[in-house]
Amino acid sequence: MKASIAVLAGDGIGPEIVTEAVRVLEATARLFGHEFAMTPVDFGGIAIDRHGDGLPPRTLEACLRSDGVLLGAIGGPKWGPTAPVRPEPALLRLRSELGVYANVRPIKVLAALRDASVIKPEILDGVDLVFVRELTGGIYFGRKSRVGDRATDECAYTVGEVERITRVAARLAAARRGRIAQIDKSNVLETSRLWREVSERVVREEFPGVSIEHMFVDAAAMHLIRRPRDFDVLLTENLFGDILTDEAAMLASSLGVLPSASLGEGRRGLYEPIHGSAPDIAGRGIANPCGTILSAALLLRHSLGLEAEARAIESAVEAAIAGGARTADIAGHGGPSIGTVAMGDAVLARLKR
Ligand code: IPM
Ligand code: MG
Repeated sequence: MKASIAVLAGDGIGPEIVTEAVRVLEATARLFGHEFAMTPVDFGGIAIDRHGDGLPPRTLEACLRSDGVLLGAIGGPKWGPTAPVRPEPALLRLRSELGVYANVRPIKVLAALRDASVIKPEILDGVDLVFVRELTGGIYFGRKSRVGDRATDECAYTVGEVERITRVAARLAAARRGRIAQIDKSNVLETSRLWREVSERVVREEFPGVSIEHMFVDAAAMHLIRRPRDFDVLLTENLFGDILTDEAAMLASSLGVLPSASLGEGRRGLYEPIHGSAPDIAGRGIANPCGTILSAALLLRHSLGLEAEARAIESAVEAAIAGGARTADIAGHGGPSIGTVAMGDAVLARLKR
């Protein structure tokens, strides 16, 4: 098949990890007889420096023309909270322009990494959960203002926004263990009461095989560490999902191994590791490329329908890690580690049809 992929390396470790994911995509194309046209474009801080805009028109057009968008990471101290133009709004705008309202973040504990987690190994056995985080609404996109000594961020959701994301979670749950935990703060927030009502109704009326329970976000934060294997699909609004997915990443040992897919109504999606640009280790060749490589696998699965190819990449990553390939973040207590390119090589060496 012929497909076009927009490649947004971004800032910090972005270029290093994306280079490895692109090598894996190229190797996969050769192995399975596909042609992936990959278009690198500026995005984030680097785009601000070069074009004065974190999401220049050329970048947005390349994304809108593509079948899928692969993103590394954006941001850094150079464009901190006091900078005149910051990269984060560009990411929010990109998500919004692409209409990718459903951010799917699978958290699976690889047996080989059980001991690399800061959490006791026996808690981790059998953990296999997936977050469905609403991505284009809520407090991230509400009106913001600063008047006098008062700052405001508005959080709003519509029934339609909750209905469509609940359907994504329910379809996913139906193909898994059939259980949704919807996370909110409905003892305090009106938006949360809407989420509870609407998600409950959608699941009851449209997904007879799926069950839904509702949980306060503070309790969910605790249960994620205490009994993570009880979760199947976690459905959250935007901000709670942002926070809880970083927490849940610790189950899988490191943010560095976790991919995400952001999906909308069509097939085109935005694929990025869940970690940030890690400016502290940028340019040192030690970042873990696995989260980005696995995001590329999700791109093949969800945007191109290439299931066998996606599995081939996922198996290669698992085999590389099981075979002892470890970047510093997953090496555990000062164990021996390899660099970004060597990790890419270890995955490539195990990639097969
Ligand atoms: C994420 C990140 C982003 C978010 C930042 C960079 C704006 O933390 O994808 O989880 O908060 O959505
Ligand atoms: Mg985050």
